[in-house]
Amino acid sequence: MEEGAAIVAAAQRDKQRQKMPFRLADWHSRYLQQARWTEPLRAHLFSRVGIGAARRILEVGCGTGAVLASIPGAENPRSLVGLDIDLERLRLAQSTAPAAGCLCGDALRLPFSGGSFDVVYSHFLFLWVGDPAAAAREMARVARRGGWVLALAEPDYGGRIDFPPALETAGRMQTESLRRQGADPDIGRRLAGLLSAAGLRILECGVLGAQADPGGAGSAGAELEQRVLRNDLGETIAESEWQSYLDADRRARESGSRILYVPTFYAAGLVP
Ligand SMILES: C[S@@+](CC[C@H](N)C(=O)[O-])C[C@H]1O[C@@H](n2cnc3c(N)ncnc32)[C@H](O)[C@@H]1O
Repeated sequence: MEEGAAIVAAAQRDKQRQKMPFRLADWHSRYLQQARWTEPLRAHLFSRVGIGAARRILEVGCGTGAVLASIPGAENPRSLVGLDIDLERLRLAQSTAPAAGCLCGDALRLPFSGGSFDVVYSHFLFLWVGDPAAAAREMARVARRGGWVLALAEPDYGGRIDFPPALETAGRMQTESLRRQGADPDIGRRLAGLLSAAGLRILECGVLGAQADPGGAGSAGAELEQRVLRNDLGETIAESEWQSYLDADRRARESGSRILYVPTFYAAGLVP
């Protein structure tokens, strides 16, 4: 194939891929990408709460196991549990995190008695639960006295920066789409208050560093970001608008000026 024809074919393939709906494997890729963003924070907080010595650990809303599989020292005899409301994701979690026991359940009614765990954590969960105050209370209830509740990452799209300005509209549309999907896109700023209201003593809270690699044009990270956005926007964006967005995004990445920043909050609470 000539070079020009090859470029056109590659562009068409990209276009097709952008349109394809997100499937389980795509979600797993997305969760792995997000888990990479929070790796330094997790290392810090897990070390602070002494997770290596913890015997009973629970992830609420474990999805496909992207974080669950990374819990350090999983070879020690201990109880590591992942809970999620979505059975399909949970089945994948059982294979990505074979050391964990995976359980289908609701964060709003955790199927454990009080004080069952040393560490209870979540990662990009509160955004989706509908009643985040109830989820925080449940996590606090099932953690033992002197144990920990860690809300490791919750975004706040209200503080989003899309740059250059040509990319702002699609960003705002994505935030509205999340709202329509039932998410609370501004949950991040409320996180520490939610844990505190659940009776936890906040020992540390803040916003993740913003050092994320924006990804060069055509990189796997950039493509995944575009696909998540395309999936969220669905039919709300016309194909011509979408193509303009992709062009502007590519040009910004090529020139090194692209910024996509969504503040991501965390909070660590001790059970008094
Ligand atoms: C964005 S994903 C994050 C998955 C995983 N924590 C990670 O970071 O890779 C949010 C997960 O929360 C789950 N979830 C949403 N509402 C839930 C609820 N009420 N109870 C349990 N899980 C829930 C979803 O099914 C989904 O797997």
